[in-house]
Amino acid sequence: MDKSTAIQRIEALRNEINHHNQRYYQFDDPQISDAQYDRLMNELAALEQRFPELLTSESPTQRVGAAPLEKFNTVAHLTPMLSLANAFSGDDIFDFGNRIERLLGKGKQISFVVEPKLDGVAVNLIYEKGNLTLGSTRGDGMVGEDITLNLRTIHSIPLTIKACNNLTIPDTLEIRGEVYIDIEAFKHLNKRRTNEGHPPFANPRNAAAGSLRQLDSKVTAKRPLNIFCYGIGFISGNPFRTHWEALQQLSRWGFRINPLIRQASDINDCVRCYHEMMEHRKNLPYEIDGMVIKVDSLEIQNRLGAVSRSPRWAIACKFPATQETTVIEDIIVQVGRTGVLTPVAVMKPVRVGGVIVSRATLHNQDEIDKKDIRIGDTVIVQRAGDVIPEVVKVVASQRDGSEKAFHMPDTCPECGSEVIRLKGEAAHRCLGLSCPAQLKEHIKHFASKGGMDIEGLGDKLVSQLVDNGVIKDPADIFPLTREKLLPLERLAEKSVSNILSSIQHSKNPPLRKLIFALGIRHVGERTAKILAETFGSLEALSQAKEDELMAIRDIGPEVSGSIFQFFCNEDNRKVLKKLAAAGVRAIEDKKSSPSPISGKSFVFTGRLQTLNRQEGKSLVESLGGYVHESVSKNTDYVVAGDDPGAKFDKATSLGIQIIDEAAFLKLVGKK
Ligand code: IVH
Repeated sequence: MDKSTAIQRIEALRNEINHHNQRYYQFDDPQISDAQYDRLMNELAALEQRFPELLTSESPTQRVGAAPLEKFNTVAHLTPMLSLANAFSGDDIFDFGNRIERLLGKGKQISFVVEPKLDGVAVNLIYEKGNLTLGSTRGDGMVGEDITLNLRTIHSIPLTIKACNNLTIPDTLEIRGEVYIDIEAFKHLNKRRTNEGHPPFANPRNAAAGSLRQLDSKVTAKRPLNIFCYGIGFISGNPFRTHWEALQQLSRWGFRINPLIRQASDINDCVRCYHEMMEHRKNLPYEIDGMVIKVDSLEIQNRLGAVSRSPRWAIACKFPATQETTVIEDIIVQVGRTGVLTPVAVMKPVRVGGVIVSRATLHNQDEIDKKDIRIGDTVIVQRAGDVIPEVVKVVASQRDGSEKAFHMPDTCPECGSEVIRLKGEAAHRCLGLSCPAQLKEHIKHFASKGGMDIEGLGDKLVSQLVDNGVIKDPADIFPLTREKLLPLERLAEKSVSNILSSIQHSKNPPLRKLIFALGIRHVGERTAKILAETFGSLEALSQAKEDELMAIRDIGPEVSGSIFQFFCNEDNRKVLKKLAAAGVRAIEDKKSSPSPISGKSFVFTGRLQTLNRQEGKSLVESLGGYVHESVSKNTDYVVAGDDPGAKFDKATSLGIQIIDEAAFLKLVGKK
């Protein structure tokens, strides 16, 4: 295909894909199958790869995320993002109507628009000449953070405004909307996170906020974010008379507008809608925490103006939280895959907002103490943000003295190992290497590439070995035999001998790998290397006192506390003995030969020319130095590229040596 044909085909494909995106993401009403859609996308991507000069940032292929940022820049909104005053009842809504009538003079017929109040994160989108050029958070209302790269990954946000007959595309258009996550998608996301050992998000709003605050937009791209747009901040040569008219036009331009938005002829109508929407709420696939009423006429909005950052022409009518009273019958403790002990209230089942609730996480001992929750207490429960049940407070007047205080157990309910609360953490943990709740994770980590590097011990096999009781701790890997492995599902003779040989070969790892493999909390590969170089043997490390550990550069109180506690644990000591008995013996780590930067700490700031950050980091580490993200008094060198950031100023104020890229390359012997 020649270039001019490619230009035409690319243009046609982009239009067609944008049309289908609109059908799918804006109107939830696709006209083609996923497979047909994928074919169009693949064709476009292939053409853009063949003719890279034709690729533009507005292409529908460009929603996958970009290189990670170091920090978000701050940006000013074109017009302030105001917040809303609240109403909590029909009476408050009538007061709002009366206030407006007083301000405008009696007898004027005022109509309104009512909208669901989405419980998500407010964002601001700026389009110049029809292209999305900036997307930001609300921030303090005047200035927010530039999260353009993250917002570009949300498919329901148009990258370009769709031309339509009704109106020319404005030079500048500032759109206001709420980014949110559907309840079902939120549950899936949390399930995925828990499976991967990450803490779940408390509610969809936190999940949306956390996803938008990712410095790596590729992570955001994987989150099920969506948007409803509800207003205009600024538009060149405002062509609209009413808010309703503006919303209709936004929809034609390709913005997603909530289908429950209605016109209300007067304040009585608004109150009726408020009760209706409250009823409707539990059937919605996303969370709303109220209804917003807005005066429809833009001219009247203007006349009414704002007081103390809230417009007089709009109000947020909050819904009462769905709460019920019940009794805590017991508090049980669950052990998670990372060893965290979570207290869970077992309650007399009660219906809250249409759902039967009988369990609620109490998070940790501090939360229980703060709310003074005891077994036998009558409590108020609510579904936070309407999804996750939570205990709001105790009804103390219902106590009869028989209630029992709860204390975290001293030993793990799963394995009987001692329970520890590490420095700086709210959670109590079981540190036991053989704890069944954590065993699969421990074994996978133990066998991983950075650890003992045992090939063939994948997720499925580990699951089978643990479930069948063949492996009860990491040391049980070494006596594995052909007879124990062969009966397991899907294991052929050949794979069995490969695994067994890989196990034999892993018995003498470098010390740092063995230390890392133990999965001590806070001990990653870098810390494991420092520990290996400092102590020279596992035996010496296991006997180190906390203050000895703390004296090591780069090891703080949290890390040293965690290492010390790990080796105090009786079960862990047993497992270490078993490992030694099975012939697992580390060889001493090769110390990196002395180099001018060995043991020195580096921080990079600004853009480098010859190297990228990762190359700089690898270079420093290969020569025995360390790279840190932030400048501290322990930093030896700050390497400053173009446009250095705040780290440069901090280094100057701390008197730390700042070198440019050329000096850095010379220092590491590359020039
Ligand atoms: S209008 C001046 N409409 O609620 C107008 N806000 O304090 C200000 N919100 O964080 C906002 N749904 O993001 C408006 N349909 C809606 C909304 C809505 C949710 C959020 C908004 C802001 C808060 C208002």
